[in-house]
Amino acid sequence: MLDHYFKQLNLDLKKQGIATPQLIVDEAALKQNIQHVQIRLAHATHLKARLVVKSLASLDLLKLLSAQINTQRFMVFHQPHIISILENFAEADILLGKPMPAQAVRHFFEQHAAWSDANIQWLVDTQQRVQQYLEIAQTYSRCLKLNIEIDVGLHRGGVQSTQQLIEILKLIERNPQYLKLSGLMGYDAHVTKIPAIIKKPELAYHGSQQTYAHYQQLIQKQFPTLWNEALCFNGGGSPTFSLHTTASVCNDLSFGSMLLKPSDFDSDFLQALQPALWIAAPVLKVLPFTQLPSMSLLDKLPHKCKALFIYGGYWLADYVYPDQCHTHALYGRSSNQELVNVPKNCDIQVDDFVFLRPTQSEAIIPQFSELKLYRTHAFETWQTFSE
Ligand SMILES: Cc1ncc(COP(=O)(O)O)c(C=O)c1O
Repeated sequence: MLDHYFKQLNLDLKKQGIATPQLIVDEAALKQNIQHVQIRLAHATHLKARLVVKSLASLDLLKLLSAQINTQRFMVFHQPHIISILENFAEADILLGKPMPAQAVRHFFEQHAAWSDANIQWLVDTQQRVQQYLEIAQTYSRCLKLNIEIDVGLHRGGVQSTQQLIEILKLIERNPQYLKLSGLMGYDAHVTKIPAIIKKPELAYHGSQQTYAHYQQLIQKQFPTLWNEALCFNGGGSPTFSLHTTASVCNDLSFGSMLLKPSDFDSDFLQALQPALWIAAPVLKVLPFTQLPSMSLLDKLPHKCKALFIYGGYWLADYVYPDQCHTHALYGRSSNQELVNVPKNCDIQVDDFVFLRPTQSEAIIPQFSELKLYRTHAFETWQTFSE
């Protein structure tokens, strides 16, 4: 099945005269993944979808997903992406996925005064950062929406105790002219990453949800002036998408990578989704076997593999086609012209393509200036974020 797919893709790429490495999005697989998300979300009416921009970093892709999943909520991780999203989505609701350095926030208000009233939830993790953001709000006479990062078990920073949360909330409560609480963000990627022998994912999820609920109740009971029904309680990502859409104390769910399903997202929880992202790299040279520099004695030995040199290489990706293609442990890796071994009887020529499956989308997409949306025999070109 995959054999037939890559043979066809190889022919289609060559027919189009494409001769450089390409990042390919398979339209059929993407559609299927979108459908899966639509169905799960239709059953989880308490959750609003939020697209993770860094994992889907192409405006055309985001526009398609925004229309199909019916959301203009975005989680943004990179300052320049904020403006791209604001310029392209009239109803954009942005939640920062990591706390921006205060200086980056200052630049935003300095350089983009026109967007100073945009719907942005700035993520804060410590009282010190809230204090810095307060000073920015005072300088620019703005009221900043603050979403508080809470540690629900991932231990990547954020609020780790009731005391820390109370201190932040007090600071916000004392400065209503400049600061407004907009919600909480608790990322729970650890849930499916802890070895099951130590903790079962369902149990880890339950624990993270309990922590989340504890902080929600604290706001409601001790800070009623900050509490309102519109607060954004963000959770997720892709690894816990199916758990959240089954039951969640959150009302806002971020996800991105699962729609393209790079191999880091091969998990029992995402079994229904299809890999939709591939790298295609042209073959530049086909040699009968691998010659290791300064080891010509080995050349006389029988060889099981041919040696290809390809256009590009060393991506965060695994070689998947032709069957059994792999890098050479001793020859080493190259980003410019990588050696790839294929079985001796493999029928591959110069100008054919080899194919790889990225392990993640967020690192790979920025390495390509465009994505090629592939439907059999045809390609559509999508731009990726340039920065
Ligand atoms: C805060 C936060 N939420 C959600 C996600 C999920 O993104 P994805 O679905 O692409 O894994 C991430 C990924 O790094 C994240 O840092």
